[in-house]
Amino acid sequence: MNYKNPDEYGYYGEFGGAFIPEMLYPNVEELQKNYLEIIESEGFQQEYQDLLKNYVGRATPLYYAKNLSEKYKTKIYLKREDLNHTGAHKINNALGQVLLAKRLGKTRIIAETGAGQHGVATATACALLGLECIVYMGEIDIQRQAPNVARMKMLGARIIPATSGSKTLKDAVNEALRDWINNPVTTHYVIGSVVGPHPFPDLVARFQSVISKEIKEQLLIQTGNENPDYIIACVGGGSNAAGAFYHFVNEKEVKIIAAEAGGFGIESGKSAATTFLGTLGVLHGSKSLVMQTEDGQVIEPHSISAGLDYPGIGPFHAHLFKEKRAEFFSINDEEALQSAFELTKLEGIIPALESAHALAVLDKKEFNENDNVVICLSGRGDKDMETYLKHL
Ligand SMILES: Cc1ncc(COP(=O)(O)O)c(C=O)c1O
Repeated sequence: MNYKNPDEYGYYGEFGGAFIPEMLYPNVEELQKNYLEIIESEGFQQEYQDLLKNYVGRATPLYYAKNLSEKYKTKIYLKREDLNHTGAHKINNALGQVLLAKRLGKTRIIAETGAGQHGVATATACALLGLECIVYMGEIDIQRQAPNVARMKMLGARIIPATSGSKTLKDAVNEALRDWINNPVTTHYVIGSVVGPHPFPDLVARFQSVISKEIKEQLLIQTGNENPDYIIACVGGGSNAAGAFYHFVNEKEVKIIAAEAGGFGIESGKSAATTFLGTLGVLHGSKSLVMQTEDGQVIEPHSISAGLDYPGIGPFHAHLFKEKRAEFFSINDEEALQSAFELTKLEGIIPALESAHALAVLDKKEFNENDNVVICLSGRGDKDMETYLKHL
């Protein structure tokens, strides 16, 4: 089975598609018709690859974590997306989409953000490429990710608080979609994860696929085999995971593990563990697994990490889950915190709270001595210092 890309209507198995109000149809159709031709063109690739190398700082290292490997009695490699310019994987997608928007003649960029990393990445790309930038962010996230709010302001973005619902990521996406409906001609919506109507999940996965492309090249040099035994990543909407899994999903021998935010625990009523709690539904323009009541009301999610605090999951991942191609773990707030402290102590790397969920899988799963285990370290922990210090 081909897990990598959706069919022409944007479906991964039964998940995906484009469920949009009529007002959005021209924008989405314009993207559907043009995205592949533009992003695969030589001119686009030249500009994009040059920026990834010389501006973002790619390739990011694949770091053999000796101390962590000794503790867990296996071979652990960290894909250092935290070392990208702006501090997370989000810049791979933001730069790509802003370049695409320019080629579509757009002058105004909107984005949503949870942890603020996607907002910072989009504001950065807009500063660089000279476009207006508006970022929607939940009121709660504005408080808990203050350093990123300051960065976005300095980069020239206007931040509009989302004050409905749980005042987090889902509500920011709602506001951004509303803006897009009202400004269809001038504006491109830079979605920050593999969610939203077709073609966004595929578009974002393609921009993030550089992660697994590099892992393959780096593993081959370091181990003599381009495929690891395990690839592990955290999943909010699922963009760093889609990028880390992309070139491995069709390689049968690679085991794929996704870590979701368990919040206070799956049974607690305060979590964001969509594959454990979700059912088939439509959220933000695509059919996927959604945390919802029996009559289809979205259940407010909870996670200590703003970037995983989302009641859905991209259709790419819903499909991997349904087909049992990936194994999903639910990681509680406390477990993620402990894994962040452990990585800091053993390796001198402070991870983002989101990435710490992927690290926590090491405590939940037995690995063999000779397994090559690659973990996507999606971002750095600077933005989370206030939370870490509260729990130190
Ligand atoms: C560092 C980091 N990792 C992971 C995520 C989760 O997003 P995604 O699942 O799209 O990678 C975020 C979201 O803000 C993030 O900032």
